[in-house]
Amino acid sequence: MSMTTTMTGDAFSGVRKPLLEGAMFPASCYTDPAFLARETERIFRRDWILVGDTGRVAKPGDWWSFDLAGIPLIVARGRDGVIRGFANTCRHRGCKLLNDGQGNSRAFKCGYHGWVYALDGKLTGAPQMEHSKGFDKADYGLHPIRVANWGVFLFVCLDDATPPLAEYLGDYFRLMGEYEPDRLVVTRRVTADLGCNWKVYAENLMEAYHTPYVHTSSIAGNDYDPGMEVLSGKGAGLFGQTEGAPIWLDHGPNHSAIVSRHTGSNALLPTDKGFPPMPRLTGTAAEGSYFTYPFPNLLIAGNVDCLWYVQINPRGTNRCTLTLASCFHEETVARPDFAEIAQAYYRRLDVSTAEDATITEEQQKGLSSPLARPGRLSHMEPVVHAFRQWVLERVGM
Ligand code: FES
Ligand SMILES: [Fe+2]
Repeated sequence: MSMTTTMTGDAFSGVRKPLLEGAMFPASCYTDPAFLARETERIFRRDWILVGDTGRVAKPGDWWSFDLAGIPLIVARGRDGVIRGFANTCRHRGCKLLNDGQGNSRAFKCGYHGWVYALDGKLTGAPQMEHSKGFDKADYGLHPIRVANWGVFLFVCLDDATPPLAEYLGDYFRLMGEYEPDRLVVTRRVTADLGCNWKVYAENLMEAYHTPYVHTSSIAGNDYDPGMEVLSGKGAGLFGQTEGAPIWLDHGPNHSAIVSRHTGSNALLPTDKGFPPMPRLTGTAAEGSYFTYPFPNLLIAGNVDCLWYVQINPRGTNRCTLTLASCFHEETVARPDFAEIAQAYYRRLDVSTAEDATITEEQQKGLSSPLARPGRLSHMEPVVHAFRQWVLERVGM
């Protein structure tokens, strides 16, 4: 299917219908460089994007350089303790300043002609430039980008016109505040390169319809899984009801969430034992789990004993990089048996992620066929539906 066919509003009329009447995105939304370029410009360069966690820059002088949808960036913690963000592009002739990675430095020095930048982005050294007329170092600091954190979770925004993070995510903070985000600690991060479009993996995370089929021998045994309940009929019809129902949805302008009341933890394989609940949990957080989706590119899952996030970074139409990070309350991390018991949580994430990776790469292969045609959605895919409406609105289709 060519882009001239798919880039018209008509191609999306089925997507815009209500969930149970709605059609899939045209396959080209997952394969066409022009669609990805539009997403990069209108989503990844405009919205607040979760890039990681503050554990990347825990101490003054810590820096982390990475790319976001192909744009090289730096996040650094200054001597004053403030976390700042910059374009990872030298202001002399545009060389990438730092290789991707992490470190601790007093300053950043460009490898091309030796310009030096302080941790706050100011240009402090520019060899030979005293001969250039009217050159003032104060005019050539690193290009700043907006950085904000919600507890341990770290976001950047490349557009100065976008509202502040708290406004952007709005009610999301109320929804998740019970987890004491300032007292969470990231204890493990894993990255994985996948052969699928970023939305393919995002949508996989947004539904439990696939759980009995893809996770047959792992988390499908969690009988408190909302997907299992709905599939078996126990919870049928509950999706979409209001707060207080055993399973309910929460939608804001830039997030969706599946909230469910159940016993046990979704963060473990059914056969594993874990930690007791986090201290001071109240409300639904104490009684079940939250699968939340601050759009566009992440999952933050909250359980009584653990949180984890999955961040998805586009690497072209048919590639993306996942970062999975496990977060525990600082009081849990302080337990003498923490390292031993935490293995069970890491094992669950690794197993389910490997299973999801295999199936999403197969999905990408199927979507890449010239014979791929849009299908339909089930009642178990309400967040997928909401996410697609959000993407369409953002890309202006
Ligand atoms: S490009 Fe960085 S110093 Fe010349
Ligand atoms: Fe899955």
